[in-house]
Amino acid sequence: MKLRRWIATGAVAMATLATLNIAPATAGRPYDPSNQSLRNLAMRHGLHVGTAVDLAALNDTTDPRYREIAGSEFSSVTAENAMKWESLEPTRGTYNWGPADELMAFARQHHQRVRGHVLVWHNQLPAWLTSGVADGSISTTELRQILRDHITAVVTRYKGKIWQWDVVNEAVSDPWDTPSTLHYKGFWAEHLGPGYIADAFRWARAADPKALLFYNDYNIEAFGSGNPADDKTQFVYEMARELRAKGVPIDGIGSQGHLGTQYGNFNTFQVSAALKKFAGLGLATAFTEVDVRSQLTEAVQAGDSAEINPRLQASAANFSVLMRACLSSPHCLSFTLWGFDDKHSWVPGWFDDPPEGLATVYDENYQPKLAYHELKADLIYSGPPFVLPRVPHHPRR
Ligand code: XIL
Repeated sequence: MKLRRWIATGAVAMATLATLNIAPATAGRPYDPSNQSLRNLAMRHGLHVGTAVDLAALNDTTDPRYREIAGSEFSSVTAENAMKWESLEPTRGTYNWGPADELMAFARQHHQRVRGHVLVWHNQLPAWLTSGVADGSISTTELRQILRDHITAVVTRYKGKIWQWDVVNEAVSDPWDTPSTLHYKGFWAEHLGPGYIADAFRWARAADPKALLFYNDYNIEAFGSGNPADDKTQFVYEMARELRAKGVPIDGIGSQGHLGTQYGNFNTFQVSAALKKFAGLGLATAFTEVDVRSQLTEAVQAGDSAEINPRLQASAANFSVLMRACLSSPHCLSFTLWGFDDKHSWVPGWFDDPPEGLATVYDENYQPKLAYHELKADLIYSGPPFVLPRVPHHPRR
């Protein structure tokens, strides 16, 4: 297996070299790397550039560009919703695998890896589960068994086919929650206590020993005060360190990377330092849901370029910060966009007061934006000594 992987890696490297460096220019047309797809350019670094996929959009035959771009620009895909609990098991005991299976087939067809998202999260749970717990018809003991069965069923279904699983998502509170001291929050912590996290990783590992198992969260791009009471990145770091110390099979930290241009945000060195510190625990890292939204003022909505342009530039700059930070750490294995076009982005539907948008790298008509070009430039104009190929990770025993 190892040998096969090594040969495959070598073949990819050769193919990449052929594409990037030594391919003769086609008749009269000099080689221009900016015409390459994101996935080809990232391959030189052993990096996978991915996207979340909206299955309804993928199947919309009136809009074939979505499918074309999803298949050609990315070497990794994530189901935006199709692998969430409410999608997979809307009725207790009856699984709806269809859309998730379709994504797996699409990935196979396009030689893409798959990030499984998500096994344990407090959102998008089916009503039968949350109401059963609320009305007392599901006991704590039963709830734990239900979670175990769910993880086992889903991971087993896609055993051997998932590169990285988001095992636990968004388990940690934010400084604006009550109490403001950071803590384990949400449905699972409330009903099972924080021990569910270690359990979930162990159950996932038992069902698929080959998948890399990730903890995934937002607002963990950089360290803050260093105090886990108010620094979420530090809280997650200590959680990961403790899990590793106890032998819990966690392989990586996913940093979602949902940024907004209205915030201060971080510089590349701060983000790089965070990735490297997680790598210091022996963990892989990944950016898993990157988008950079902006507030849509009335002038933006009216098409005023004096307000639109600074947003597009700030968005591109922030995409670039995350990409360069990822490139700087060879344990940062993948860079996934949370959707690639503004038409299908979750942002306008979720951030509507004030309205926000312009969060992705293609506009609503699939025209690449500044951010798309800058991501490519980051991939092209980088290399040794400060950008080295990715170090492959294998699940910890
Ligand atoms: C979002 C999807 O994009 C939306 O379509 C859905 O309605 C809500 O969830 N963090 C996550 C993702 O881990 O699963 C969320 O996806 C975005 C925030």
